[in-house]
Amino acid sequence: TDRYCVFGHPVGHSKSPGIHVAFATQTGQDIDYTAIEAPLDDFPGAWRAFTAAGGCGANVTVPFKEDAFRLCDVLSPRAQRAGAVNTLVLGKDGQTWGDTTDGVGLVRDLKHHGVALAGSRVLVLGAGGAVRGILEPLLVEGPEQLMVANRTPAKAEALAADFADLGAIHGGGFEAVAGPFDVVINGTSASLAGDLPPLPDDLFAEGASAYDMMYGAEPTVFLRWASARGARCTDGLGMLVEQAAESFFLWRNRRPDTAPVLEALRKSL
Ligand code: ATR
Repeated sequence: TDRYCVFGHPVGHSKSPGIHVAFATQTGQDIDYTAIEAPLDDFPGAWRAFTAAGGCGANVTVPFKEDAFRLCDVLSPRAQRAGAVNTLVLGKDGQTWGDTTDGVGLVRDLKHHGVALAGSRVLVLGAGGAVRGILEPLLVEGPEQLMVANRTPAKAEALAADFADLGAIHGGGFEAVAGPFDVVINGTSASLAGDLPPLPDDLFAEGASAYDMMYGAEPTVFLRWASARGARCTDGLGMLVEQAAESFFLWRNRRPDTAPVLEALRKSL
């Protein structure tokens, strides 16, 4: 039995163990997957202890994605760009390899929902770590333009500058947002506080899609607002399952069928 885990703090609420156990059952992989609460001041120690006890790989969630980035011996190019790691793999040589699968997870989920990114006008709300992690995979799809809008405009501008070599991206404050957009992705943590970024009413193009990287039993404030303005709405539960599937693939070289896992997870919310 190969051992994996998710590191977080807190981590008790994590859906990752259930998702990976479902993937393992489906693909006939003999693995064990647990949730481990790492101490806030010693993430490297938690990873070392886990690998010393036979651990082969891990997912990393809040607040350790940057700590995980710093401890890796080898980083994938997309993790390098993201400045964060959500997937650790212990190499045969004992080196720690890091990747981030969040952005790919988002793009796959958008595709499953029939949301086209190529040639689209895309708006991303927020400029924190979560948004940094999705910009490269979004730009690779070839949107006509990608705007990053944030409460603190300078952070959006800096982020856009960091990714400018990959496509038509620009940053600014919410007041600089001028629609219409075909795809609007909420990557702020505003929903957690029940807040809604100040956005114009004519934000959405005809047939536009709204995506919230958060999820819950009920639609987020942002999705309720978007739905009332005619957008097709999707929450981030599918992204969660897809990023997990990509991590599972890195560890086991098997691609699980995500649809039944997502369906079961949705029912459990
Ligand atoms: P994460 O890892 O979730 O990205 P983060 O790096 O702390 O967390 O980033 C949080 C993002 O949500 C930021 O873009 C933040 O805006 P600021 O850069 O201006 O702080 C945004 N955010 C948080 N609360 C918000 C609110 N109530 N309204 C609008 N934006 C908010």
